[in-house]
Amino acid sequence: MPTRELITLRVNGSTHELAVRPYDVLLDVLRENLNLTGTKRGCDMGTCGCCTVHLDGEPRLACLTLAMEAVGREVRTIEGLKDKGLLHPLQRAFAEYGGSQCGFCTPGFIMTAAALLAVNPHPTREEIKEAISGNLCRCTGYVKIVDAIAAVARTKAATVG
Ligand code: FES
Ligand code: FES
Repeated sequence: MPTRELITLRVNGSTHELAVRPYDVLLDVLRENLNLTGTKRGCDMGTCGCCTVHLDGEPRLACLTLAMEAVGREVRTIEGLKDKGLLHPLQRAFAEYGGSQCGFCTPGFIMTAAALLAVNPHPTREEIKEAISGNLCRCTGYVKIVDAIAAVARTKAATVG
C-alpha cells in the first residue's frame, strides 16, 4: 500500500485535512474525499475541460493536477462560485440562455468563463471562444454557451467571481 500523507487543502474558503497518496489527483480528492461532485470527470485525460476548477483564481484541469500541488493554494469549485447563497451570474445566464443541455460540461465551462471574466470583464465573442476552446460540449453548438457568457460580460456583474 502506498503511504498516505496528511495534507491541508483550502477549498471554497474552508480548510480540510486529508490523507492522500502522492499520485492522487485533485479531481478524485474533490469528488471522493470532499464529496464535491460538481466538478465532472469527462475524459480523465486533459482534453475535455469538464474538470476545470480554479487554483489561485486560474483555471486548472483537476484531472491533471496532483492534490499535493494544491497545498498552500486556494481551490475553488463550482460549488464555491455562488456568493452569499446567490447563484453566480454565469450560472443564471447558462440557465436563462440554454447554455447547458445535459449539463455535464457546464461546471467546467462556467469555471473557465468565470476565470476569464475576472481578468477580462468585457471580452469580445472571439475572446470568449478562445478562452473556452479547451472545453468540449457534446450536446450543443456552443452558440448558446457563448451567448450566456457574453450576456454576463455586458453587465456589471461580470466582475463577480
Ligand atoms: S476530465 Fe479533465 S480534461 Fe477531461
Ligand atoms: S450540455 Fe451536455 S455535454 Fe455539454
